[in-house]
Amino acid sequence: MSEHTMRAVTLSGFGGPEVLTVGRVARPEPLPTEVLVRVHAAGINPVDWKTRAGQGMAGLQRLPLILGWDVSGVVEEVGFGVTTLAPGDEVYAMPWFPRPAGGYAEYVTAPSRQFARKPASIGHTEAAALPLAALTAWHALVDTAGVRAGQRVLVHAAAGGVGHLAVQMARHLGAEVVATARESRHAWLEELGADETIDYTRQRFEEATGGVDVVIDLIGGLDATDVRSVAVTRPGGLVVSVPGGVSPALAAAAGRAGVRTSPLLVEPDGAALTAIAGLVDSGAVRVAVEHVFALEQAAEAHRRGETNRTRGKLVLDVAG
Ligand SMILES: NC(=O)c1ccc[n+]([C@@H]2O[C@H](COP(=O)([O-])OP(=O)(O)OC[C@H]3O[C@@H](n4cnc5c(N)ncnc54)[C@H](OP(=O)(O)O)[C@@H]3O)[C@@H](O)[C@H]2O)c1
Repeated sequence: MSEHTMRAVTLSGFGGPEVLTVGRVARPEPLPTEVLVRVHAAGINPVDWKTRAGQGMAGLQRLPLILGWDVSGVVEEVGFGVTTLAPGDEVYAMPWFPRPAGGYAEYVTAPSRQFARKPASIGHTEAAALPLAALTAWHALVDTAGVRAGQRVLVHAAAGGVGHLAVQMARHLGAEVVATARESRHAWLEELGADETIDYTRQRFEEATGGVDVVIDLIGGLDATDVRSVAVTRPGGLVVSVPGGVSPALAAAAGRAGVRTSPLLVEPDGAALTAIAGLVDSGAVRVAVEHVFALEQAAEAHRRGETNRTRGKLVLDVAG
């Protein structure tokens, strides 16, 4: 095959998982300050299937589209002016978000400083599972909430991609961690650092806990999880509403209770990925990959993800 083309999963229209098709497309070339990375593995996130279905970041994309933001791979070429990376370096990133990054493909190009060196202690498959989820957890806990030792942090959807990393990071920051997940996940979450676990399928979380300083809400308006989170948060505490921002109902309830709220949209952040790689290499954070799919199985991977039952992360093996 021509070295100027590459395998990629493309979609020429928004819709169900069946719109994802594998084919050959032109290989991107790095501009000055950019690197060309040969992708070994691509992580899958809910924003991928939401965008595929015409929601999520669909309004910011142009068709035909190569989905995917999370990648781990090896630098193949550097554009003019790049001084911190060289061919052969193993890197990982969530480049360009929310613009298209084209992660479900054999090559991506992006500004060099959106990448960081991959954690040395894990392979590309696990590294590809990290960027978007770990950056979201980091931006929420560290940059947005400024979590400090001794605070109580509630993580909703703790067994998911963002949640299982947020539990470990909050624990690493010295917080007491409360996690919501179905019962079969509790032992695992306790191993990761949860002090209290609540089975949201059996009990309303506001009847099981309270006195929380920071809520990392990864559910949003479903079952009014965002609004109900106000009841467990102490006055002056913070609810970070990750999926859909701060709804009018959440703003009103929080205003009445003297609770602060914040939306959050994750951003490319090579410096934070370097810090996260340090946490992984020190053993403070472990990433759980539930299943690895071949690039050709992208549609199947989306179907699995859309069940909303993933423990940890789903990844596409691109090099395989
Ligand atoms: N704003 C941003 O920048 C940003 C960034 C990342 C993610 N997000 C959004 O945040 C959400 C979470 O992302 P993710 O990657 O962590 O998703 P995910 O991995 O697909 O989440 C799946 C997990 O959600 C749990 N879950 C489902 N309903 C629940 C409920 N009512 N209460 C508690 N847990 C529940 C399931 O746990 P059980 O099996 O225990 O039920 C499952 O483990 C998504 O909506 C995503 O789009 C936004």
